[in-house]
Amino acid sequence: MTHRLLATLRGEATEPPPLWLMRQAGRYLPEYREIRQQVEGFIALCMDSDRAAEVTLQPVRRYGLDAAILFSDILIVPHALGQSVRFEEGEGPKLDAIRTSRTVNSLSIDGVAGAVGPIWKTVEKVRAGLAPDAALIGFAGSPWTVATYMVEGGGSKDFSAVKHFALSEPSAFAGLLDRVVEASILYLRGQIDAGAQVIKLFDSWAGAVPSDRFDEWVIAPTGRIVDALKESHTQIPIIGFPRGAGANYHRYVDRLAIDAVAVDPSVPLSEMQTLQKRLPVQGKLDPAFLHTGGPALEQAVKTLLDGLAGGPFVFNLGHGIHRFTPPDNVAALVDIVRSHRPGVR
Ligand code: CP3
Repeated sequence: MTHRLLATLRGEATEPPPLWLMRQAGRYLPEYREIRQQVEGFIALCMDSDRAAEVTLQPVRRYGLDAAILFSDILIVPHALGQSVRFEEGEGPKLDAIRTSRTVNSLSIDGVAGAVGPIWKTVEKVRAGLAPDAALIGFAGSPWTVATYMVEGGGSKDFSAVKHFALSEPSAFAGLLDRVVEASILYLRGQIDAGAQVIKLFDSWAGAVPSDRFDEWVIAPTGRIVDALKESHTQIPIIGFPRGAGANYHRYVDRLAIDAVAVDPSVPLSEMQTLQKRLPVQGKLDPAFLHTGGPALEQAVKTLLDGLAGGPFVFNLGHGIHRFTPPDNVAALVDIVRSHRPGVR
């Protein structure tokens, strides 16, 4: 069975490119909202493998996308390490902030396999229900991004708490990254064993890291995960996403044994073309175009398709779908991508 996404991640230029969307399962879909209201809390949905498998499959069924991405969240790792994680309606995630070496030391890897067991079951169920030519993507957050939530206690605008903790208590911060690395390796190996065919590492806040700490906070811990997965599962393709990393995208690609790099909307197309000479690229449509639809969407999509047709390219957004995106705009996007012929407008 040919998987177009897997072929592209091996370096083939596929026309039209394979297509999936960050946050393709979620609140913009009425069928997601219906399932979501059947359970109390977002983590409960992630841990309900029948419902989580169903919402994973919903967008693939509706749009015929080339890949499913496991329905879970990057904050499952802190939850599995024993930190309290809550998702409050309209407020985003809330965690009990970690600010001392004592709380770092209280996080335990021992409970991780038990806690994420239901999510591994979801992977099995999705693989069983997915069309044979669609690929299944597993994921985790990269350690820096996961640590920002763990130390800030939720989302942040300036990351002052996590940076202060990292700079003032470097050994405690290193201990925190270590635990996230270990838990992520275990969690991701289990996803691959359960049927995930691609792994994506989300470093959503890579752009907040001062350049002189980029190696220490982003590259080194991410590299430990990449190397461990490549050691146990030599064939597994890995997509890295250092969102907002700017000039550090090149360094990230140089230093990590990733198979593809996902690109955010701030990166110019010419830069993405330069990266594409080195490895497969994914992205980078701004979700605002998909939210808006119409001629703006069509023009932006065609520019990307024409600009990247010469090499391995995975069509995607540069960040997650906006929750008020009309589902018909996604159908229109799929249509534009699938009917596109390079250079013909
Ligand atoms: O379809 C998919 O992409 C798969 C599922 C997925 C979710 N979160 C589901 C989700 C994935 C891959 C993620 C990754 C994730 N989660 C990231 C990295 C990507 C990015 O967006 O930068 C981050 C930073 C998180 C942390 C997170 N989870 C936040 C900040 C929030 C709240 C924001 C919001 O939109 O309310 C979540 C909750 C979340 N994760 C939802 C979904 C569908 C919404 C919760 C709900 O439906 O109740």
